[in-house]
Amino acid sequence: MGPRHIAIIMDGNGRWAKNRHLPRTLGHVKGAKVVRPLVKACTERGITHLTLFAFSTENWRRPPEEVSTLMGLFGQYLEKEVSDMQKQGVRFRLIGDRSAFAQGLQDLIAHAELSTAHNQGIHLTVAANYGGQWDILNATREWQRANPLKGLELLDAPGLAPHLSMAGAPDPDLLIRTGGESRISNFLLWQCAYTELYFTDALWPDFNAAMLDDALA
Ligand code: IPE
Ligand code: IPE
Ligand code: MG
Repeated sequence: MGPRHIAIIMDGNGRWAKNRHLPRTLGHVKGAKVVRPLVKACTERGITHLTLFAFSTENWRRPPEEVSTLMGLFGQYLEKEVSDMQKQGVRFRLIGDRSAFAQGLQDLIAHAELSTAHNQGIHLTVAANYGGQWDILNATREWQRANPLKGLELLDAPGLAPHLSMAGAPDPDLLIRTGGESRISNFLLWQCAYTELYFTDALWPDFNAAMLDDALA
């Protein structure tokens, strides 16, 4: 059986732009355009879950102009893509602490989630203001709130699972990272315990279906 769930760390937008003497922003713009054809390619290959790392809890340390560009692009992506998601049957969900985002962006996220919730196609999850450590800590706190009479010595992996942000989804079979770095950068730490890891030097804005097939092979 082929992989059901692919997770991707979309890295290398800045270097893609630098190689072309363009501002980093344009690398992010080009990077965002890769997502729609990729979702389609995954659907065609029978993949049921695609999870994309778009913004880490560590990415707030970037220059404020770059952070606001990324937030703006994310909003534009949501505004533009919901109608196509409907056509393709995509089920959109965001994982990460959304309370840090501007209200307008939170509204766009909620709208995209609500309006695609009844679709029947691929589960597209975007991780934004997400960190694997945050996820595990948050789940632990939630477990404690749900089980106020139990001590932490009663917490086990199956008990924690429903409180993690990817609850209900199969763990990723394959994690792809573009951009040449061989690290996980605080992505799905818990969920990737048994995931195959694939690192490629390709920069994210260049990523395409042929490269996806290389990774799958
Ligand atoms: C990935 O590209 C996009 C985000 C992290 C938001 P980068 O912006 O990290 O690009 P490089 O690593 O500087 O090339
Ligand atoms: C990882 O890329 C996070 C995302 C793709 C959102 P970074 O470029 O931020 O990773 P590090 O911090 O260099 O490892
Ligand atoms: Mg990077």
